[in-house]
This record gives sequence, C-alpha cells and structure tokens, in this order.
Amino acid sequence: QSGVITIDPGFKNTGSTKSAITFLDGEKGILRYRGYPIEQLADKSTFLEVAYLLIYGELPQKSEFETFKSQVTNHTLVHEDIKKLLDGFPSTAHPMGVLSSLVTSLTAFYPQSLDPNRSWEEVNLSIIRILAKMPTFAAWSYKNQMGHPVVYPDNKLDYCGNFLKMMFGLPTEEYEVDPVVSRALDKLLILHADHEQNCSASTVRIVGSSQASLYASISAGINALWGPLHGGANTAVIEMLEGIKADGGDTKKWMAKAKDKNDPFRLMGFGHRVYKNFDPRARIIKKAADDVLEKLGVNDPVLDIAKGLEQEALEDQYFVDRKLYPNVDFYSGIIYRALGIPAEMFTVMFALGRLPGWIAQWKEMRENKEPIGRPRQVYVGENERDYVDLAKR
Ligand code: SDX
Repeated sequence: QSGVITIDPGFKNTGSTKSAITFLDGEKGILRYRGYPIEQLADKSTFLEVAYLLIYGELPQKSEFETFKSQVTNHTLVHEDIKKLLDGFPSTAHPMGVLSSLVTSLTAFYPQSLDPNRSWEEVNLSIIRILAKMPTFAAWSYKNQMGHPVVYPDNKLDYCGNFLKMMFGLPTEEYEVDPVVSRALDKLLILHADHEQNCSASTVRIVGSSQASLYASISAGINALWGPLHGGANTAVIEMLEGIKADGGDTKKWMAKAKDKNDPFRLMGFGHRVYKNFDPRARIIKKAADDVLEKLGVNDPVLDIAKGLEQEALEDQYFVDRKLYPNVDFYSGIIYRALGIPAEMFTVMFALGRLPGWIAQWKEMRENKEPIGRPRQVYVGENERDYVDLAKR
C-alpha cells in the first residue's frame, strides 16, 4: 500500500530482487546454480567452470572455457605497487582485513571510467581481473601473517593448484600440488560459490546499486562475510569444537549453553535463515570430510566431536523445534584444517569460494538496471524541540 511502511528486521520476509542465478528450497534442502543441482556440480564440475556458469548463465562450450581460463590465468600477476601495500601490514593483521584492503586497492589502480560506451567491456575486464587476483591476494594475506615471502602465481598450474602453491610454496623448497588436496579444495569452493540473497551478496548488490565499481562492491561483500553469524562461523566452529575437546568432550554442557537464553553462546555451524532442513552443502562436506581425512591419513579427534554434537542436536527438542540443522560451516573447517589451512584463513577461503556468486549477483543487478537501494524507516525518536545553549544545559 502506498505510504504504509512495514518494518521487517533482517529482511526475513522481504524479497529484495528477482534473480535467475541460484534456487534454494529451505524446506526440502535443495540448492541449484542456474538450475543445476549442487550435488552434480560438486561431483562433476570444477570451480572455474561453475564460476563461468554463475556469471554468464550457461555451462561453457569447450572453446569458451579455454578462452575464459586463459584470460584468468593471464591476469593473476599483481601490480608491484599493490605488493608494496601488503608490506605495510603487520603480521598480526587479520587476513580478512588484508584481503578486503587489497581488493579495495584495485579501485585505485584501475579506476572505473564513467564512459557509458566502455562500461560493459570494462566490466568484463574487471570480472577477469578480480577472479584472477583473488587467489593471489588470499594467499598473500596468509604469507603476510606467517611473515614469509610471497610466492608469485604459476601460470602452468590450474586455479586451485596455483592457489595452493602460492599458499604453501616456500623459496627454500620445491612445492608439489597434491591432487587429493587440490580436488578437495575445488569441491569446497564449488559448494561456497553462491547462495542467493545472503547477507554478503545483498551487501554487494546494495553497494553496487550506487554504481560503485565491482571491486568496491566485492570489498564490501568481504567485510559483510567476516561476521561470525555469516562467513566467520567456520572459524568459530573450530574454536567451539576445540573448546569442547579441551573440556573433555562434554558436548552436553555446550548444548545446554546454546539453549540458555541468558547465555549469548550459540552452537556455531548450526541453524540457517532459509534451510529448515539439512543444508545440502553440509551433507556433501560431511561425506567429503571422511574421504579427505582418510585419503590424507589424518585422524582429527575434532571430527568425532563434531559428529557427536550433530547427533545430539538432531535428537534435542529445542533444536528440533527450531529446525536447527548443521549448515555449510559446520564441517568445512575440518577439511580446511586437514588441507593445512589455519583457522584464521577459513573465512578467506569462504570469500574465495563466494567470489563468483558475488560477481554474478552484482552483474545481474547492473544488467537489470535496478534502482539504488534506499529503504525507508519508521521514526521513533524525539518530537521537534529547540536548541539549548551549553551554558543553560
Ligand atoms: C552462513 O544466508 C545464507 O545463505 C548464509 C550462508 C551462505 O552460504 O551465504 O548459508 C552461510 O552464514 C551459514 C550460517 C553460519 N552461521 C552460524 O552457524 C552461526 C550460528 N547460527 C545462528 O546464529 C543462526 O542460526 C543464523 C544467524 C544462521 C540464522 O539466524 P536467524 O534466521 O535470524 O534465526 P534466529 O536468530 O531468529 O533464531 C531462531 C531461534 C532463536 O531462538 P528463539 O528466539 O526462537 O527462542 O533459533 C535459535 C535462536 O536463539 N538459534 C540458535 C541457533 N541458531 C538459531 N540457538 C542455538 N544455536 C544456534 N546456532
């Protein structure tokens, strides 16, 4: 109705847009990218092919994919002046803060022209650039934290292999990409690639709606993802599981804390705004965790604690009543850890995976010429009143 403002905190019942990118059915636990079920893509596709699908809407023909791959490969190098920026961060800087700063720096190095005739050509170049440089920035944020020299991209390697070498390569020794690690990482990135209008994707859309550049919008998305209720949950899950392990595995005590209204603690990795059933990604990641740990010969007691906690939660009335199931973040950290990735880097990994989704959402918003996002409010403050001089207050 015109003139009536309804408040919808957290936009739980608000649709912000029409989108053709990702379909979710929270009741049935269904997730599809451009109509393809996530289970098939995780099993049969690669992250870069899924990125192409999300951004351009179709699975690429062989020639299209070869062109796309070579474009991305040939933009992995970063301007040395951006590397100088990296040198300015202390090793205590959080990798997510370094990542968002390096992405924002692209707006200074590649200013967006306002020439409407160039814009789509420039947008496509921006898409290639950010897809190509994000793994470099992500790996460099880790090197900065470790106090190690950065490793430059190796264009002979594929997307995940190149990232792993930049992450774990050292000037003191040869680095061999482990195909088991690379395949596991590729699958994890596919599972994180998009998730319709989640907090960070909505942030990318609203920042982009002011016609801010793709780089500025992605940097905003990185910062929204950082929060523990969103992409920061994967790090919080491992910290929680480590806490339970240190507590002698007393899952009942932590379940009680999660249900205590006076205790702000929540069971990290559980619950979801949309999924009121199992998060389909959690099912796939849980199975992958078993496979990867077995293949790598890793025995992580935290995995057993996670499975025990899941079993308890699935039988707990409080959780059943609120339809709280494991989400994508509950098991992902266990795999990242087995791949040698430290907990402070887990949300960076989420950002690396979610990048194609953010790009696709931003591009769709711009293609549809959506208006600038500017919601209204219901004012509940003071009525009109007159200024009082300081001396009289
Ligand atoms: C991601 O949106 C997306 O799609 C996100 C994501 C993506 O791919 O982009 O899927 C990725 O962010 C996954 C979620 C990661 N976050 C966590 O695991 C943090 C823990 N989970 C929650 O804080 C919570 O479940 C949210 C934030 C995920 C969802 O919160 P909602 O939809 O706002 O639900 P709510 O806070 O209103 O909770 C409903 C009830 C409340 O109890 P009552 O007031 O009804 O008594 O459920 C309770 C909550 O207290 N509750 C939990 C809980 N999650 C909700 N209680 C204990 N532990 C939890 N984890």
